[in-house]
Amino acid sequence: MSKGNIKINPPPPPVVTPPQPSSKYQGVKHTILVMSGKGGVGKSTFSVNLSVTLAKKFKVGLIDADINGPDDPLLLGISKEKLVANEKGIIPASTKYGVKVISMAFMLPDDGTAVIWRGALRHKAIQQFLEDVFWDNADYVILDLPPGTGDEALTVSQLVPQADGIIIVITPQDVALLDARKAIDFASKLKIKVIGMVENMSGFVCPHCGNTTNIFKSGGAEELCKRLGIPFLGRIPIHPEIVENGDLGIPAVEISKEIRNEFENITSKVEEILEKSKS
Ligand SMILES: Nc1ncnc2c1ncn2[C@@H]1O[C@H](COP(=O)(O)OP(=O)(O)O)[C@@H](O)[C@H]1O
Ligand SMILES: [Mg+2]
Repeated sequence: MSKGNIKINPPPPPVVTPPQPSSKYQGVKHTILVMSGKGGVGKSTFSVNLSVTLAKKFKVGLIDADINGPDDPLLLGISKEKLVANEKGIIPASTKYGVKVISMAFMLPDDGTAVIWRGALRHKAIQQFLEDVFWDNADYVILDLPPGTGDEALTVSQLVPQADGIIIVITPQDVALLDARKAIDFASKLKIKVIGMVENMSGFVCPHCGNTTNIFKSGGAEELCKRLGIPFLGRIPIHPEIVENGDLGIPAVEISKEIRNEFENITSKVEEILEKSKS
């Protein structure tokens, strides 16, 4: 071999096995991923209240896909539940609101235990939530994802290629709007549909004088949706009841008519969008 005449053959293309959705999960009719560009915007609050609202009409499962920060059982007042398995698979925990839930929190000795798992382990946990849990042909499974466009969202998009799409939860600050664009970009790169966007913590209505104060601004999400041609699903203002009842383990839609109306409107829009995309 002479100097200057070295030929490097490119490596053969990797063999990519298409993801195989689990046979147990096949019976689930609709899968919705709840995402956000950043943390603390209300994904878990939204996922729980959306699930409880849908469960008035449908068979609903909720996957707490935030492995390192599982909050959904606490918000539903079932954090002391332990999981059982039988010949059908792992049985998700029941709630009195009709929603069936799976979460890493059920596998921890107490609420204060930290889960410090690298991506590969979190991937494995979500895979089990999808493949080994008896979802009993649910009409809807809602996935409450951790913030950002990390491993968990990627895992779900690969294991459930038939997912209906993502709902992006954002708060109205400019920085949150910027982060939301990353979630949209993520969805378009993975060819997942964006079902729509929800503006959470959108203004505060004073219970005394009835005036609205836009603490984090308001309306930015709707404008962004218009610009990008994405459905705007609705606004949820700052409600002190959401914090109080979340801490007590009661979903806010169960105690406030106003919040229930807001979630019913959002749910109807989601149903409509999914119905249209079928035809
Ligand atoms: N619309 C709202 N009004 C008042 N508090 C809210 C609202 N949405 C969420 N919160 C509160 O904000 C905090 C973060 O919400 P959470 O759902 O845990 O966010 P994420 O899952 O995105 O990290 C919680 O304490 C929750 O009670
Ligand atoms: Mg959360």
